[in-house]
Amino acid sequence: MSFAHIFADIFVVFGVIFVLSLLGYLIPQFIIRILKPLDLKKRYGGGFAFITGGNSGMGEQFAKKVAKMGFDIIILAEDEDRLNKVAKEINDVNPQCRVIIINADLSGDPETVTEQVVAKLQNVDISIMFFNAGYGVVELAANPSENTLRQFRTNIVAHQYLFQALYPKLASRIIGHNQQQGAIRRGGVLFTASLAGFIYPPGSHVYGATKEYLGHLGECLATEAE
Ligand SMILES: NC(=O)c1ccc[n+]([C@@H]2O[C@H](COP(=O)([O-])OP(=O)(O)OC[C@H]3O[C@@H](n4cnc5c(N)ncnc54)[C@H](OP(=O)(O)O)[C@@H]3O)[C@@H](O)[C@H]2O)c1
Repeated sequence: MSFAHIFADIFVVFGVIFVLSLLGYLIPQFIIRILKPLDLKKRYGGGFAFITGGNSGMGEQFAKKVAKMGFDIIILAEDEDRLNKVAKEINDVNPQCRVIIINADLSGDPETVTEQVVAKLQNVDISIMFFNAGYGVVELAANPSENTLRQFRTNIVAHQYLFQALYPKLASRIIGHNQQQGAIRRGGVLFTASLAGFIYPPGSHVYGATKEYLGHLGECLATEAE
């Protein structure tokens, strides 16, 4: 086979990868634009959105987006200054929005942190739970340190505890009645997983495993919940 043929084959392979990647981006964008966005307030009947990791990144953006839709907000994270700053910005987006701040470290004892959260949310109507706080430690699976344990407790253990403590109330939440179904029960649960859960980047295998756990939990819940 000549050099020109090899070059042409490589060109075709990269071309196909490029076209597939482009379609993978364009098709979801197209679907999002032609479909009417879901009216979350109507679907869940308002209430509070509880967001772990709500003082930064995706959690912060989600908090602001649902505050704009008319939800009240609970944001949980470690950095109190950033929690206060984001709470203020949420009120700039929607001055009527009630914002509850929970300053907690999810990498510690999960029972203690769960008790702290539950005590603060006793009479709060949570309609959406976004289990999002987390981070990745770059460390070999064969040579883990305390950092890996803290990552494990933050990404998985604390969220499993919080989920178990808060989910029963959300699952039995009634937003109205109709003749066919009787009581209409509604609540939303989201978990932030990661591509790292599928591709396992070198040095981040354990992080990937924690994210795969959350993705899997979300899928189980989607099939089991009524
Ligand atoms: N960025 C990406 O490319 C990417 C891709 C896939 C998945 N993710 C996942 O997406 C989620 C959000 O990440 P992001 O990109 O938005 O990053 P980010 O801005 O760093 O947000 C991480 C959030 O988690 C909170 N958090 C971390 N450790 C905590 C602890 N021990 N206790 C309480 N809160 C804690 C942080 O709050 P404090 O700073 O106050 O601790 C922060 O609000 C994470 O679960 C991450 O694994 C990110």
